[in-house]
Amino acid sequence: MNAESRTRLNQTPEWTALAEHREEFAEAHLRELFERNPGRGAAYTLQVGDLHVDYSKHLVTDETLRLLRELAAATDVAGLRDAMFRGERINVTEDRAVLHTALRAPRDAVVEVDGENVVPAVHAVLDKMSGFSERVRSGEWTGHTGRRIKNVVNIGIGGSDLGPAMAYEVLRSFTDRDLTVRFVSNVDGADLHEAVRDLDPAETLFVIASKTFTTIETITNATSARDWLLTELKAGQEAVAQHFVALSTNAEKVADFGIDTANMFEFWDWVGGRYSFDSAIGLSLMLAIGPERFRELLDGFHLVDEHFRTAPAESNVPLLLGLLGVWYGNFFDAQSHAVLPYSHYLSKFTAYLQQLDMESNGKSVDRDGNPVEWQTGPVVWGTPGTNGQHAYYQLIHQGTKVIPADFIGFAEPVAELSDGLKAQHDLLMANFFAQTQALAFGKTAEEVRAEGVPEELVPHKTFAGNHPTTTILARELTPSVLGQLIALYEHKVFVQGAIWHIDSFDQWGVELGKVLAKRVEPALTEGADVPGLDESTKALVNRYRALRGR
Ligand code: F6P
Repeated sequence: MNAESRTRLNQTPEWTALAEHREEFAEAHLRELFERNPGRGAAYTLQVGDLHVDYSKHLVTDETLRLLRELAAATDVAGLRDAMFRGERINVTEDRAVLHTALRAPRDAVVEVDGENVVPAVHAVLDKMSGFSERVRSGEWTGHTGRRIKNVVNIGIGGSDLGPAMAYEVLRSFTDRDLTVRFVSNVDGADLHEAVRDLDPAETLFVIASKTFTTIETITNATSARDWLLTELKAGQEAVAQHFVALSTNAEKVADFGIDTANMFEFWDWVGGRYSFDSAIGLSLMLAIGPERFRELLDGFHLVDEHFRTAPAESNVPLLLGLLGVWYGNFFDAQSHAVLPYSHYLSKFTAYLQQLDMESNGKSVDRDGNPVEWQTGPVVWGTPGTNGQHAYYQLIHQGTKVIPADFIGFAEPVAELSDGLKAQHDLLMANFFAQTQALAFGKTAEEVRAEGVPEELVPHKTFAGNHPTTTILARELTPSVLGQLIALYEHKVFVQGAIWHIDSFDQWGVELGKVLAKRVEPALTEGADVPGLDESTKALVNRYRALRGR
């Protein structure tokens, strides 16, 4: 179905069939679904690469899954997917191809944009990154005074920060522990201050990551970092070359800033910011884990790309996860989606997914500019277990909201831990399994009574259960597994955007705030009378100036 002839999603027979089918779940309970089909726990699982995906604790039957796949077929998810992999300009509002999948393609692959194979250029940049990383890691690359680089500070924001910052945490046990790697994103000067206050500038390399090289936060922080470096080193502009490299699509702006474009690692406009972490934007991570581990990460991404591209609908994991999200968001009114990793190393994983999912699918007009009449992307949230269990799980267990959740866990603790700390892993994972069990099956009033609980407390101690979860289990958390996980979510987001018929690859909603911030700034600094300032904001600005003694 092409854009012109596409029937409004909520008017398709497939949508109507799902809405009718939803009625059958008015009284359904997971307890009953498991009673009816005891083999469900084993049957409702899929494998992709190292990821074992259990979706048995979802409010779905074979019929639900069939109807959801029919919706995917009617909305031509596979057609848009193939167009993406072929390098067609599926980002319609920016008229761009969407080819993050080319970033992890093997050297001999062919992916064409406007008739040109982009894979050689991708690998040329990867080779350049590898050479540079090796030189820094070996000590061959030195700072201006000849000292070895011991600190890397990545300055970027959004997609130019969240990916490498998240992955650096995830893969800490694979990093060179002698190298300090920090990430600065916020224009709040405190961020840069805290990042550099105990660093020796002579041993510090700044990686300025910005696709556009115009983002105000990044350019402001990069300028302050340059001032700090030159002041501390008592050096002139010539010191910049050894201490600053750039990751960008914009060579002109990089040169304007004073960074030698020989020290620029390039990527292209067909890489969206939130899909750029496996491009040159990954340089800080490569410096930390080395080129070989970085390649393992890319291979993990690629494995899931190939699965998404070729696996039949029945066993296609990103398709399944995307469809489950549509089921709850559009037919159960779920407003949010929790991602709950049971790994301390995944502490920034959900924050990374927030940008991936919410910047992609936080849209209210469709690809043709019509307002959508259906819910689009959910609020994505979550932090690692077991911490969340003692904070907000209460609301998931006994609150009034439908919150589908992904539980991500690993059989093996990270190899570097001592034997004593490794022994804690079973306890962590016991919580992991216990939570999805409690969420699905709850505890009935009869079970509570049987424990001798006084009648007045029975309603309080009863757990309704029936809360849907996906369990993703892998043997261990490696660079490849991280790549697999990210690609899984990238393609899940893609599937949902395709069904909702929105452009998942633009982000116009971010622009207004940026423009207004630039306009308001002179009111703060100079007390300028800024036209178009509303009465509330004007009063707040005046209060701010008074508090600052201006
Ligand atoms: O916040 C909007 C955004 O454009 C993101 O999509 C992007 O990742 C981020 O800003 C940073 O942009 P840049 O890499 O161009 O500095």
